[in-house]
Amino acid sequence: MTKIPNRIYLTEDEMPTYYYNLRADMPDKPDPLLDPDTGAAVTVEDLHPIFCDALARQELDNKTPQIDIPEEVQAFYKKYRPSPLCRAYSLEKYLDTPAKIYYKFEGNNTSGSHKLNSAVAQVYYAKEEGVRRLTTETGAGQWGTALSEACAHFGLDLTVFMVKCSYEQKPFRKAIMETFKSRVVPSPSDTTAVGRQILAAHPGTSGSLGCAIAEAVEEAVQSEDTRYVLGSVLNQVVLHQSIVGLECEQAFAKIDDYPDTVIGCAGGGSNLGGIIAPFVRDKLQGKHQTDILAVEPASCPSMTRGRYAYDFCDTGHVTPLAKMYTVGADYMPAASHAGGLRFHGMSPIVSKLYHDGHMRAKSYRQTEIFEAAVLFAKLETILPAPESAHAIKAAIDEALYCKESGEAKTILFGLTGTGYFDMTAYAAYTNGTMTDYVPTDAELAVALEKLPLVPGQA
Ligand SMILES: Cc1ncc(COP(=O)(O)O)c(C=O)c1O
Repeated sequence: MTKIPNRIYLTEDEMPTYYYNLRADMPDKPDPLLDPDTGAAVTVEDLHPIFCDALARQELDNKTPQIDIPEEVQAFYKKYRPSPLCRAYSLEKYLDTPAKIYYKFEGNNTSGSHKLNSAVAQVYYAKEEGVRRLTTETGAGQWGTALSEACAHFGLDLTVFMVKCSYEQKPFRKAIMETFKSRVVPSPSDTTAVGRQILAAHPGTSGSLGCAIAEAVEEAVQSEDTRYVLGSVLNQVVLHQSIVGLECEQAFAKIDDYPDTVIGCAGGGSNLGGIIAPFVRDKLQGKHQTDILAVEPASCPSMTRGRYAYDFCDTGHVTPLAKMYTVGADYMPAASHAGGLRFHGMSPIVSKLYHDGHMRAKSYRQTEIFEAAVLFAKLETILPAPESAHAIKAAIDEALYCKESGEAKTILFGLTGTGYFDMTAYAAYTNGTMTDYVPTDAELAVALEKLPLVPGQA
């Protein structure tokens, strides 16, 4: 048999021309977004002040399996896609495992992550509808950078509320966003009413994605020419990230293989929801029994220790309610180095799949994932983002189980991004000052007790 190359590339002509909407093939759909005041399912009209209409329709569309990727978006994708499916030969050799380890590398663009896949789509649709300005939040900074790139390309203004601990840890992230002419505000800030409220309730807080979302939404709904965009959690974002899974599916077909295990790190669930989409479809249709694994930080364990319940997507309680695994919108995660995984909730699609037993979830502490990150960097020559390192660690563990059992499984994981802006974190790991924080049950209970009551439901 011919040797599988280190990197498997599709040609530009082979790139997907549609997004795949997994909800269409889920026999049990994710629960709808609800209006927190009435308990009624939200409509496209309800979402109008927040999102542009094309995205609101994608958000609520549980039926259409394939949604065309607009030509201008396809053209932008071709600047940095298709991304390679890589075979981790050196890692396999080091682990001495019979498993075949593959990773889909999404770090080859200025944002350094998969986030650009949804940023380009969201900015395109906003521009088509005459929107002139966008607001958003960013945790690790990848999403803010990606959106800044896309806004600069399509000519829209952007304000980014950046979680304060990332703002302080990553000044160069801010500098890139400003290079693309975005306005960057550390969150919580005193520029919004909700920011001032959060600062009064939690003085000295290092912020969270939930706070930053609340501030960005508040600023967006105040002007008719401004809309809010979110980099994760939402169904529309998972939809755009399906391009990752679709490319993997095609690349595996080229080498006549199919993954037994698919692993993704999980912050709000967008890269995970995207990479698993076609493999979950096949699983639901009984064609393959792929093991799907979500990996989250032990410091923000929404799937492994949270509750499946309706909750706000933000700390200021201004968004609709989403049914998801959550540690509570008021939970303030410790200032860990995987800033992109510090969100209290999980995508409703991923949550529903997990709740219905179609996938597993596990968590790791940050010192464990940095050990895996450093090993991976040495062996595979890519310095991974701390978020991505969660998937690396899980892939290593799965490959070691294969070593014990002797199984030559095919393992796929999402290498969502690079860690060049995370050198403070790498330095802390290298010099031994990195610590782990795992919340106690009592700490988690505080925010869970404040989960909202849904009007009309017991
Ligand atoms: C490199 C990287 N990977 C993963 C994530 C997690 O986001 P999601 O769960 O939406 O893929 C982030 C979020 O910022 C990120 O920057």
